[in-house]
Amino acid sequence: MGEVLLRDVVSHAAEKFASAGIEAAQVDAELIAAHILSFSRGEVQAAMQTGFTLNEDQAKTFAEFGARRFTREPLQHITGFAYFRQLQLSVGRGVFVPRPETETVVQIAIDELRASQLASPIAVDLGTGSGAIALAMHTEVAKAQVHAVELSPDAFAYTSANFERYPGANLVLGDMADAFNSLNGSVSVVISNPPYIPVDMVPIDPEVHLFDPKLALYGGDDGLDLIRVVAATASRLLVDGGLLVIEHADTQSAAVCELLLAEGFDRVEAHKDLTGSDRAVSARKS
Ligand SMILES: C[S@@+](CC[C@H](N)C(=O)[O-])C[C@H]1O[C@@H](n2cnc3c(N)ncnc32)[C@H](O)[C@@H]1O
Repeated sequence: MGEVLLRDVVSHAAEKFASAGIEAAQVDAELIAAHILSFSRGEVQAAMQTGFTLNEDQAKTFAEFGARRFTREPLQHITGFAYFRQLQLSVGRGVFVPRPETETVVQIAIDELRASQLASPIAVDLGTGSGAIALAMHTEVAKAQVHAVELSPDAFAYTSANFERYPGANLVLGDMADAFNSLNGSVSVVISNPPYIPVDMVPIDPEVHLFDPKLALYGGDDGLDLIRVVAATASRLLVDGGLLVIEHADTQSAAVCELLLAEGFDRVEAHKDLTGSDRAVSARKS
């Protein structure tokens, strides 16, 4: 195999990806090329127009990565990175790939921390996964003191690497239920994107059900098991008037609001994502 035209390789891969049911087939093929060439996606598109060629090694790597994507392995596992707000996070098998809707949820916590009158408000992220939420708060609100907990040792390898990449926040391996007892009653913001899928509602996308860790997805029979733990933990950690923010599935808003009122929270508020679905609830410790 000698040199091959980039545009031929990309369009062939895009056709194969589409035949495997991948929605953004062309985008993914271009992003694989961008990763191999260290180009931006725009540069790949320009290079496709101008007859750019891949050498033999590059073509071989493209074929390997393309074959992996064809099996529906997430693009982020293949490149090793996920982008979240201003962060570039290390991800792979064993850790949940952060989602765009969570970028909107974390804004609620960031706004609260920025508005705090405290010199160094404390924020806690329960079930931090790649560290996306915790590290967004840490890097975007300099005065915040951020703590995060993750239960899965498999995820933790990635979490630790990401906390080293953006140093200064506190990370622990453990169960959120009994984490950070020394912070009880002193936290300004608790945020969590917990597992919330009911166990018998397996997601359709192979990228999710084959590659995201089960511990990150499922929350018991009604999906709310971990949301109950988040509510109890937040009730313990928060200062009076402190803010809890929870991401949930688009069908769970009423149930989560009810659960938080029962836990003694007030000023319960539903928040929509960019598509208009209710995807988060915030509430204050009363
Ligand atoms: C849906 S993922 C969210 C990860 C990350 N916060 C994000 O938004 O991308 C839920 C995370 O909670 C972790 N988790 C599940 N149960 C936990 C527990 N009891 N204590 C701490 N972390 C837990 C999972 O391992 C997973 O990393």
